[in-house]
Amino acid sequence: MSSLLDEAIIELLDKYSKEGGVTMVDELKQTETTHVLCITNYKGGVGKTTTTAEFAYLFAKRGGKQVLVIDADGQGNITQRMGCIPNQENAIDACLTMSMDRKPLNVEPYITTTQYKGIDIIPGSNALGQDFFQNEMSAYRSRTGKNPYQKVIDAVKALKRYDIIILDTHPAADNEIRYPMQASTDILCPVDPSDEGINGVLSTYAQVVESREATPELRYLGAFFNRADLRTSQCRDYIPSAKDVLPSLISQMNDGEEDGVVFKTVIRQSADVGKAVNYRCAVCDRFHGKTIARDFEKLYNEVVSILG
Ligand SMILES: Nc1ncnc2c1ncn2[C@@H]1O[C@H](COP(=O)(O)OP(=O)(O)OP(=O)(O)O)[C@@H](O)[C@H]1O
Ligand SMILES: [Mg+2]
Repeated sequence: MSSLLDEAIIELLDKYSKEGGVTMVDELKQTETTHVLCITNYKGGVGKTTTTAEFAYLFAKRGGKQVLVIDADGQGNITQRMGCIPNQENAIDACLTMSMDRKPLNVEPYITTTQYKGIDIIPGSNALGQDFFQNEMSAYRSRTGKNPYQKVIDAVKALKRYDIIILDTHPAADNEIRYPMQASTDILCPVDPSDEGINGVLSTYAQVVESREATPELRYLGAFFNRADLRTSQCRDYIPSAKDVLPSLISQMNDGEEDGVVFKTVIRQSADVGKAVNYRCAVCDRFHGKTIARDFEKLYNEVVSILG
């Protein structure tokens, strides 16, 4: 209904703007969602939520994009980081439940504004992690062949309001991560500089390969190192050798074909990240101009150039 109304208003504005009467209003512009970016790694604590916050902020403030964040992690961390309250009534679990109904999904009630203009969110809920909820989604998937996250994303796209959707995901090899991943267009993996971190990327990539059976166009953008303490020689030695080895390990899992990149930008370890968590804001907002913000800006530029 509201999109019909928007269309009618846009038509009128267009008509009068052609006659020199009014200028088009930005908020009413129709927008195609070009990317659904999934920030993921099976390993916990590698910087998924931090990256989601920084990318949402940079896409909105640098790129001038309209961003929708979906908190697909029962921990609700990105919801808090964006200055919202997790577990509220109209959160992602309620939205997914409605998506499993026969009626068309109205996603509007589940979208909340954040402290940042240009960034909205579907907030997280700890119900996501509960067995009964995951079982309900699996049963729905087996019964209908449909992915509830795909229905949510399709309903968001139909609003024609967001340029990009960014999903923050849960650290585990289960449906809590599989469904959001399969509903995405692009996968980005933060990784900490350790063998366990690399193993996390490889397990996640195995899931990308498997997910392509359901979503052949799913693109693996690649991995980047986060939390690098470049003051230690251990870290300074580890990253270049891991940058060499990781692409060949990925290609072995992809029938010998290269896939994705290891991004040149390395995000350094910085106490400012912890401070931004406590202030519930993006590092690039509060610590603009500092090394850590510049690291994220460089990574953002690299990712944008690949995303196209
Ligand atoms: N570059 C960094 N420098 C310092 N601390 C960092 C950096 N990146 C992340 N952290 C810290 O590491 C912790 C984990 O980060 P974050 O929550 O972003 O990871 P995650 O992958 O989302 O975790 P989870 O798997 O639990 O969802 C946080 O306390 C965060 O402040
Ligand atoms: Mg997280």
